[in-house]
Amino acid sequence: MENQKRPETMERITTPVLAQAFIDEQLQAIKAQVGDKKVLLALSGGVDSSVVAALLIKAIGRNLVCVHVNHGLLRKGEPEQVIRVFRDEMDANLVYVDAVDRFLDKLAGVADPEQKRKIIGAEFIRVFEEEARKQQGIEFLAQGTIYPDILESGPVKAHHNVGGLPEDLQFELVEPLKFLFKDEVRMVGKTLGLPDGMVYRQPFPGPGLGVRCVGAITRDRLEAVRESDAILREEFAKNGLEGKVWQYFTIVPDFKTVGIRDGKRTDEWPVVLRAVNTRDAMSATVEDVPFALLQHITARITSEVKGVNRVLFDLTPKPTGTIEWE
Ligand code: XMP
Repeated sequence: MENQKRPETMERITTPVLAQAFIDEQLQAIKAQVGDKKVLLALSGGVDSSVVAALLIKAIGRNLVCVHVNHGLLRKGEPEQVIRVFRDEMDANLVYVDAVDRFLDKLAGVADPEQKRKIIGAEFIRVFEEEARKQQGIEFLAQGTIYPDILESGPVKAHHNVGGLPEDLQFELVEPLKFLFKDEVRMVGKTLGLPDGMVYRQPFPGPGLGVRCVGAITRDRLEAVRESDAILREEFAKNGLEGKVWQYFTIVPDFKTVGIRDGKRTDEWPVVLRAVNTRDAMSATVEDVPFALLQHITARITSEVKGVNRVLFDLTPKPTGTIEWE
């Protein structure tokens, strides 16, 4: 485990100059480690995997094979952003896998949250493994492991989706960010030229919108989660709350309530808004979102999101609530 400890001489990366020095050093190290061999990376579009991708593209270009799995539980616009930033702007060797039907079919009728998480994790590994087998001559696997992952859980990324590839797929790991804290990863990402929307993203759980579409996932209710989340994010960005609030998202429970629209009774879902601040996700407080903004978001969601007639704001800190609803 001795190479799992951040060297005591390593300075905190707090400025673009220090980030550039780190980048230069890592480019050399990556080139020395992988030479002209190919490297595989599961690129979710989250901060860590995006920064690893940008670094490896700089070091080895198209010898990095990025696999972006769309499991249907990503936020609105995410797969498109990954393709635009990495394939179009950085000329990455990017394999886009549309696995939406595959995941949603497997999840159909499954209401238990842990079972949902298990299915999503296992299916992700299966899809990634299939793509890995299609690629010839890959010897390395890059991972966006960061220092808190090592501190919290040993060598495998805490809740990394790609923790358990089968034994016969033996890769040597490339983990250039493994001694960095999140703020340092962001500084490196910014210095590498990644867009702010990617570098300063709020944390997003591995099972994605799957745990916010409470109970058994249906396609229509999942769309209500995705569309309401997009409105919340857009309004938070417009009103200066992006980057200020730690995590904010919407939840759609699996029950309907009565409402009224155009003089007729409706039977539709409620949308729950959640906006919290925390240091370590172990406890959290609720953001004091201006009431007028909550009213505006409510008006937008009830008029723009299909199947929704009611909006609630979750006032519960952690404890007693958790951040997610399941
Ligand atoms: P809770 O709901 O436990 O969430 O207060 C704490 C933080 O963890 C995230 N979270 C997850 N992240 N896989 C992940 O990668 C998961 O299954 C998962 N469940 C919760 C949550 O978004 C919050 O930031």
